[in-house]
Amino acid sequence: MTQTDRILLDPEDIHSRLTREGVGCPLFYRQEIDSTNEWAKRAAAEGAADGSVYLADYQSAGKGRRGRTWQSPEGTSVSMSLLLRPEIPADRISMLTLIMGLSAAEGMKAVTGLDVGIKWPNDVVIGGRKLCGILTEANSLVEYIVVGIGINCNMEAFPEELSQTATSLRLEMGRPVSREAVTAEILKAFYRNYEEFRKTCTITGSVKEAYEDLLVNRDRQVRVLDPKGEYEGISLGINEMGELLVQRADNGEAAAVYAGEVSVRGIYGYV
Ligand code: BTN
Repeated sequence: MTQTDRILLDPEDIHSRLTREGVGCPLFYRQEIDSTNEWAKRAAAEGAADGSVYLADYQSAGKGRRGRTWQSPEGTSVSMSLLLRPEIPADRISMLTLIMGLSAAEGMKAVTGLDVGIKWPNDVVIGGRKLCGILTEANSLVEYIVVGIGINCNMEAFPEELSQTATSLRLEMGRPVSREAVTAEILKAFYRNYEEFRKTCTITGSVKEAYEDLLVNRDRQVRVLDPKGEYEGISLGINEMGELLVQRADNGEAAAVYAGEVSVRGIYGYV
């Protein structure tokens, strides 16, 4: 794709898809921004409303987890951040990352029909490769939370270093996907799941069921990369805090693994 024939995201299309379904949220769009998470945080500091969405075609300084950078190629990916003000204790923040992971999987599935799954806590995967990345941030008093997602929609290839771990909806379907449809379906799913979450500030009922149905590492052997000591076991599902329950191979006990502290890998690979 050349500089001139790039097709930009159509925020009006996303907005009308949402309002048709009765989802009303303030939606802000920029063709280019440093990072939609940073943009949402700046807006939050100026009093922006709960549920506001910040959307961009291209990020010049996209942020990944653990201080890494995140590439968001213009014309093929979607970068979006949601500003939330749920009044929850700090130990519940990571649960919103799970809620976004679930919503992203549901939204992608609704548009493409692909058999996507979730690798705990929030990676949406297919064939062992990631379809999106999620970064959740909050200010120190947890007055606001920003949940940012980068969605791999229409990339036709990935750089060498990512080619074994990343994929796009286009690569999986063999044809391009409407980025507006994917964005709108993810937002619809998110607001539905977020509304349920806010009732109890736990992951319970239909949200927990939907999450566990999509959990690819359920009933699988996993290795828990705990800084206090790695161990293996069988992952059983999640609890109401969104922690992964792992039956340890060494002592048979069920351990609850907290998303902020440790990573979990399949024993034969990433999933
Ligand atoms: C990861 O490392 O897997 C998380 C990547 C998160 C990327 C998204 S893109 C939208 C939002 N803005 C950012 O700067 N990062 C997140």
